[in-house]
Amino acid sequence: MEFRFPRTCTLFSSVSLYFLLLPFHSFSQISLPPSPAPEAAGLGPLAVFSVLSFGAVGDGVTDDTPALKMAWDTACQAESATLLIPHRYSFMIQSAIFAGPSTNEVCILLSLFIVEKIDGTLMPPDGPDSWPKSNNRRQWLVFYRVNGMSMQGGGLIDGRGEKWWNLPCKPHKGVNGTTLPGPCDSPVAIRFFMSSNLTVQGLKIKNSPQFHFRFDGCRDVHIDSLYIKAPSQSPNTDGIHIENTNNVKIYNSVVSNGDDCVSIGAGCYNVDIRNITCGPSHGISIGSLGIRNTRACVSNITVSDAVVKNSDNGVRIKTWQGGSGSVSKVTFNNIRMENVKNPIIIDQYYCLTKGCPNQTSSLHISDILYANIKGTYDIRSRPLHLACSDTVPCTNLTFSEVELLPAKGNFLLDPFCWNAYGDLRTLTIPPVSCLSEGIPQSIPENYVDQC
Ligand SMILES: *[C@@H]1O[C@H](CO)[C@@H](O)[C@H](O)[C@H]1NC(C)=O
Ligand SMILES: *[C@@H]1O[C@H](CO)[C@@H](O)[C@H](O)[C@H]1NC(C)=O
Ligand SMILES: *[C@@H]1O[C@H](CO)[C@@H](O)[C@H](O)[C@H]1NC(C)=O
Ligand SMILES: *[C@@H]1O[C@H](CO)[C@@H](O)[C@H](O)[C@H]1NC(C)=O
Ligand SMILES: *[C@@H]1O[C@H](CO)[C@@H](O)[C@H](O)[C@H]1NC(C)=O
Ligand SMILES: *[C@@H]1O[C@H](CO)[C@@H](O)[C@H](O)[C@H]1NC(C)=O
Repeated sequence: MEFRFPRTCTLFSSVSLYFLLLPFHSFSQISLPPSPAPEAAGLGPLAVFSVLSFGAVGDGVTDDTPALKMAWDTACQAESATLLIPHRYSFMIQSAIFAGPSTNEVCILLSLFIVEKIDGTLMPPDGPDSWPKSNNRRQWLVFYRVNGMSMQGGGLIDGRGEKWWNLPCKPHKGVNGTTLPGPCDSPVAIRFFMSSNLTVQGLKIKNSPQFHFRFDGCRDVHIDSLYIKAPSQSPNTDGIHIENTNNVKIYNSVVSNGDDCVSIGAGCYNVDIRNITCGPSHGISIGSLGIRNTRACVSNITVSDAVVKNSDNGVRIKTWQGGSGSVSKVTFNNIRMENVKNPIIIDQYYCLTKGCPNQTSSLHISDILYANIKGTYDIRSRPLHLACSDTVPCTNLTFSEVELLPAKGNFLLDPFCWNAYGDLRTLTIPPVSCLSEGIPQSIPENYVDQC
């Protein structure tokens, strides 16, 4: 992976940077940096760096990447700064990496703030043919080694994903609904990499070519009030994906898209998800984990007060055959399901093709609490599907106040369990009589989950 370091950012430590999209008129008097600015949105006195001051045109066609980069680099030299992406303009930005200073004391605030009409917009080139050959096709805007950054406001990020979703390599997009070989990389819209103390708040983002947000190798991440939207048929458009990231709060957000609403990958712990509305989507997922015999550890995840509607899955844990590690201490509490195909699902046989052979090594899934999960399911599949590994059973699955009824029709498929151990704290609807009680005899004696 190649990373470009803005020289200013690596030369200066103790920098604070704010990245802001505000109604232009409230700042029209602001000229070149580093002029101290009025109090921006209650953020205290900040130097404001508008991309317009650096030559950005904002007509949606001109390449404004050099202006944005210059604004970023300049803002990096200030004690604290706001980078402003003003209202009523559309900025076309190429794939770019914004690196912070390498110290931990940096404070960066990216603030997108639009008052009424959503017409101030950040967007990438339109589709793979417009993407410069030399640019990375797997990511669009990357924030690398930034600490204390906040990206907030009500601006719109438009990922212009449609042409990427229609690449012949994407499911059913080839001739006559086939899937053809060929380059398939598509950019994640916003990626935070090896960063900490991040706040992302109030943004609207739509139609990412791939994941909308991806956090990897980050810690102390606070996400609030995001609005994420893509068509239900758009492939791999996960709303918020985290991996190797810990101390995460994801609150008060609304996601409708074509893949997981929130996905939690390997190496995540201490994650609190609250008041999320998902759907249509593929639900809230832990996984997939353990691909190509990798080790994955995920623990202390709480999902509460969520609504999942018209989705393929509700709350899901998915692992590939052959991995190692564990998923433990997960609570799904107070979740309303509306017309969801698999409201509660554990799938330790996750496979995207038909040919994933069973293997003996497996992740261990344990200490999972499903509490107060109520609502309706789509009768085309089972309300509960607990397919645990043959060799390493799931243990200590607890069900309390689970009540799932058919959304329509009354064809009832029974819950499915395979090697699933745990307890029913209350009676459930439908009854989960297939759950094995107590502790399995069959866990391999020397089994260590290595987490
Ligand atoms: C986190 O960032 C905020 C600014 O967004 C800053 O005020 C705060 O001091 C930072 N906290 C730590 C622990 O670095
Ligand atoms: C697509 O389907 C049509 C109608 O079935 C058929 O005539 C045509 O040959 C197919 N094209 C390819 C490339 O398979
Ligand atoms: C839940 O999130 C929605 C969407 O952001 C918000 O409108 C609502 O006020 C939140 N509810 C609570 C109790 O915070
Ligand atoms: C679990 O995560 C929460 C944050 O979501 C944190 O407050 C708590 O301390 C963590 N528990 C443990 C045992 O680390
Ligand atoms: C893998 O194991 C499961 C559970 O024992 C079984 O249902 C499935 O048929 C097996 N798959 C293959 C490909 O052998
Ligand atoms: C089983 O899981 C619950 C949470 O779901 C936890 O409180 C309890 O301590 C676990 N039991 C054991 C024996 O680990």
